[in-house]
Amino acid sequence: MSQLPRPTVYIETYGCQMNVADSELMYGTLAAQGYEAVDAPEGADVILVNTCAIRDHAEQRVIGRLGELRRHMKADTIMGVTGCMAQRLGPRILEKARHVSLVVGPDGYRALPQLLDGARNGEKGIFTTFDLEEHYEDVTPRRTDPVKAWIPVQRGCDYRCTYCIVPFTRGAERSRALADVVREVRQVVETGTTEIVLLGQTVNSYNDGTHDFADLLRAVGAIDGVRRLRYTSPHPNDFSERVIAAHAEVEAVCEHMHLPMQSGSTRVLKRMLRRYSREEFLACVANLRTVMPSLVLTTDVIVGFPGETDEDFEDTLSAVVEAGFSDAFTFKFSPREGTPATRMPAEETVPDDVASERLQRLIQTVRAQSREQNLALLGSRVEVLIERLARDGALLMGRTRDWKTVLVPGDASLMNTYHTVELTGSTGSTFTGAFVSDAQPVRQPLPMAG
Ligand code: SAH
Ligand code: SF4
Ligand code: F3S
Repeated sequence: MSQLPRPTVYIETYGCQMNVADSELMYGTLAAQGYEAVDAPEGADVILVNTCAIRDHAEQRVIGRLGELRRHMKADTIMGVTGCMAQRLGPRILEKARHVSLVVGPDGYRALPQLLDGARNGEKGIFTTFDLEEHYEDVTPRRTDPVKAWIPVQRGCDYRCTYCIVPFTRGAERSRALADVVREVRQVVETGTTEIVLLGQTVNSYNDGTHDFADLLRAVGAIDGVRRLRYTSPHPNDFSERVIAAHAEVEAVCEHMHLPMQSGSTRVLKRMLRRYSREEFLACVANLRTVMPSLVLTTDVIVGFPGETDEDFEDTLSAVVEAGFSDAFTFKFSPREGTPATRMPAEETVPDDVASERLQRLIQTVRAQSREQNLALLGSRVEVLIERLARDGALLMGRTRDWKTVLVPGDASLMNTYHTVELTGSTGSTFTGAFVSDAQPVRQPLPMAG
């Protein structure tokens, strides 16, 4: 065999966890062809930017970044754009950024090695066809998160929320076979990972033809070594009684859920085509809290959707309080080309200053609520899984089952271990904590903090 150095590839990831998982699949596909992953763009033979198209801001950021990355290219570096923006813009990306030679959408990653070979011969490549069978079943992802494993169980989306680009960038919904998901989780657990996050755009509508999401939760929760089981993002309409009941049965399912609400006004929800009313959303929350009394909920909210009145916005604020959200990702509506919301009458456009003011008020409401909830937790004992070094390097960052961030003293040797921690302080959003008893790794489930 020749001693040629392996070509190196650097992937930069934007957008949601689905993109994080897809980047791991891309690394896996390329590793199987002899590529070596590197964690900086300087001097890499291949640079891929895995992009998001959800809001205009997300795309502008990528366009800026493509310009910056150009400086790190060698004469023969191949630059590719993948993901949702690649799917949405296709050849337009090659016009915007002439140093890019590949544009590959979410269902095209299997073709990456051939496309890269072509690019080496000077051919620009575009792959944006959807493949409804594609789950990359035979690709071993190269995992980049040492603590959590992101497991896509569903690709695409069959909802048509009127503001949303995802159905255009990810195609129709399809679920992986339950047996394939279980096989992957078993492999992951063997490497020492105990936290599993199931991914899908409306993940609880999972259905592989034989099994629904309740079956999936039970099957994954039953795998030896799965101690924390999460999923993101569920859609309120897909919580069947069976799915809700499974939450009470599967011990590994964590007491935190990210449940996007989008708006608290039935009128706006209707125009968003969310397919639930304010009352139905709040009833869904109540049902979930019945089976999981200690459930912590976070959400996504959009302000400034076309036609949103002051009254609609007040409904959103009151729904945030009624649902008792602990945190929220809050967004100003961003019109996406080709989506139905862009065809709503121009006079319904919410002026930017009004949307900005609503966003600020919403953030204040969320923060105040989160702070109040968090301060009430001071002094309690919780189970923390150590995830990484905190930003300042002297502390460790860990998470509770219900997704609270806790900073504790310690060193890297404690990574990926469970501890009982007493919450000693809070900034309002994150906590500081102290280990209870000694800091020995806990391998067995802890009794619930009381
Ligand atoms: N599938 C998930 C959402 C994925 S997109 C769900 O249905 O819940 C993540 C979030 O981005 C959405 O929940 C929404 O709040 C926000 N979002 C999507 N399109 C947007 C747009 N055009 N403008 C502003 N925010 C948007
Ligand atoms: Fe977009 Fe709606 Fe699908 Fe979520 S459910 S990805 S918001 S279309
Ligand atoms: Fe963005 Fe695509 Fe995810 S548009 S939010 S990366 S599905």
